[in-house]
Amino acid sequence: MTGGLDGRVVAVTGGASGIGAACVDALAADGAKVYVLDVTTTGEPWSLRADVTDPASVARAVDHIVNAEGRVDGLVASAGVRGPDRGAEELDVADFDAVLDVNLRGVFVTCQAFARPMLAAGRGAIVAIGSMSGNHIINTPMRIAGYHAAKGGVRALVRALATEWGPRGVRVNQLSPGYVATPLSDADPEHHDAWRDATVLGRLGTPEEIAAGVRFLLGDGAAFCCGAELLMDGGYVLR
Ligand SMILES: NC(=O)c1ccc[n+]([C@@H]2O[C@H](COP(=O)([O-])OP(=O)(O)OC[C@H]3O[C@@H](n4cnc5c(N)ncnc54)[C@H](O)[C@@H]3O)[C@@H](O)[C@H]2O)c1
Repeated sequence: MTGGLDGRVVAVTGGASGIGAACVDALAADGAKVYVLDVTTTGEPWSLRADVTDPASVARAVDHIVNAEGRVDGLVASAGVRGPDRGAEELDVADFDAVLDVNLRGVFVTCQAFARPMLAAGRGAIVAIGSMSGNHIINTPMRIAGYHAAKGGVRALVRALATEWGPRGVRVNQLSPGYVATPLSDADPEHHDAWRDATVLGRLGTPEEIAAGVRFLLGDGAAFCCGAELLMDGGYVLR
């Protein structure tokens, strides 16, 4: 089954690694012309340096894509960081801010910049990568209050943007992964056995499995999805 992305122009933030990189491959395999926006670049023409905490750098990337392709049809906002594992009472406010800056403000900055040409064209699709950590679970024994706050904010943001932009042709939806094997989750190898045990399907997810859900939400098969959250967690939240 394809997501119907033939010829669509799509950007993926955080596309240099993990879930974002798997999205790049899946969307390209589905016929999309994909641009990677990340703080690390490969030097290839479709690999653009953009820091989601810096609105000007994201705007430059949008301009580059629109100038090169004449339009942009889709966005996947996958850039994210975990932040330090530290008790909330000891956490530097600067560290809290840094996580919010990428994981929540960065999603807003990116969605805003890409929505402008999409709204002008009257069509587009956006998928924000949230997390089951947004409003379903707390990642104990880790202490990552900033990460939870940001992901909870993404859920509210997606619903707000979907409501504003849906009537104008731009669908905004969210994919919330459970534990997935990527460099981000590799920061906590000591928790992997517990995560597997607590997941109904008994394993971590793969970036490719998450990318399949993103491909669905971005494509015409999800034409009636607006502000939806697709939870792909192997059943973790059921336990
Ligand atoms: N891996 C998991 O278990 C898991 C679970 C739930 C949600 N998520 C979410 O999935 C998304 C992708 O995570 P991942 O596991 O693939 O992590 P990852 O570390 O493999 O990839 C994150 C990417 O984001 C990029 N990035 C970081 N800060 C950036 C910035 N300021 N501007 C642009 N790019 C930036 C990094 O360079 C990297 O390429 C994140 O939003 C994460 O919170 C991951």
